[in-house]
Amino acid sequence: MSKTTLQTVAQTRRSVYALNKTLPVSKDDINQIVEHALLHTPSAFNSQSTRLVVLHGEEHDKLWEIAKAELAKIVPAENFAATEAKLDMFKAGAGTVLFFEDTNVVKGLQDSFPAYADNFPIWADHASAMTQYAIWTTLASENVGANLQHYNPVIDAEVAKTWNIPESWKLRAQLVFGGIVSPAGDKEFAPVADRMKVHG
Ligand SMILES: Cc1cc2nc3c(=O)[nH]c(=O)nc-3n(C[C@H](O)[C@H](O)[C@H](O)COP(=O)(O)O)c2cc1C
Repeated sequence: MSKTTLQTVAQTRRSVYALNKTLPVSKDDINQIVEHALLHTPSAFNSQSTRLVVLHGEEHDKLWEIAKAELAKIVPAENFAATEAKLDMFKAGAGTVLFFEDTNVVKGLQDSFPAYADNFPIWADHASAMTQYAIWTTLASENVGANLQHYNPVIDAEVAKTWNIPESWKLRAQLVFGGIVSPAGDKEFAPVADRMKVHG
């Protein structure tokens, strides 16, 4: 069997860290990609608990300045230069997608289906992860580089204040995107035989 289009694109998705602000597609194209993933990614009980905020340009820059300010409060001063350099690398990108899960939706499901109560927060994270992957891979198909970050919960309060985020939205991840300055390096693969079994 030859590779499907989806498989070919899946192989182009990598963690690309050297990004710039020059995108090969328009801002509107990025918004369309994010919206498409939001609509077409599955969720437990079709609960659609994922919430997304797209930050372009100066709003994206603001996010990474917030991360710097918040991390400066907790990272020892002698280590902060390295932290700042890393955060500047993200700021050098063109934009960031913020992934939230609406805890009100999760609570509603827990109340309606108590037998599955423990699973709903886990399934909400699964749905978020699927949405993250869909966006990351579709961006790769358009030659937009991206990397996935997790500065939550350190930045949660400032993010909520800055972009008027509802209290029930819980930040789960940040996907930084931009033009590709240099591609990801080689990737090592652990043996498939240890990771996948086929029976029958
Ligand atoms: C659930 C999850 C969490 C991750 N968290 C981070 C992160 O916080 N920071 C980061 O730089 N990369 C993060 N990554 C990226 C992984 O390090 C990366 O996907 C992995 O090394 C494989 O490389 P590739 O993305 O180029 O295929 C995360 C990936 C996943 C799936």
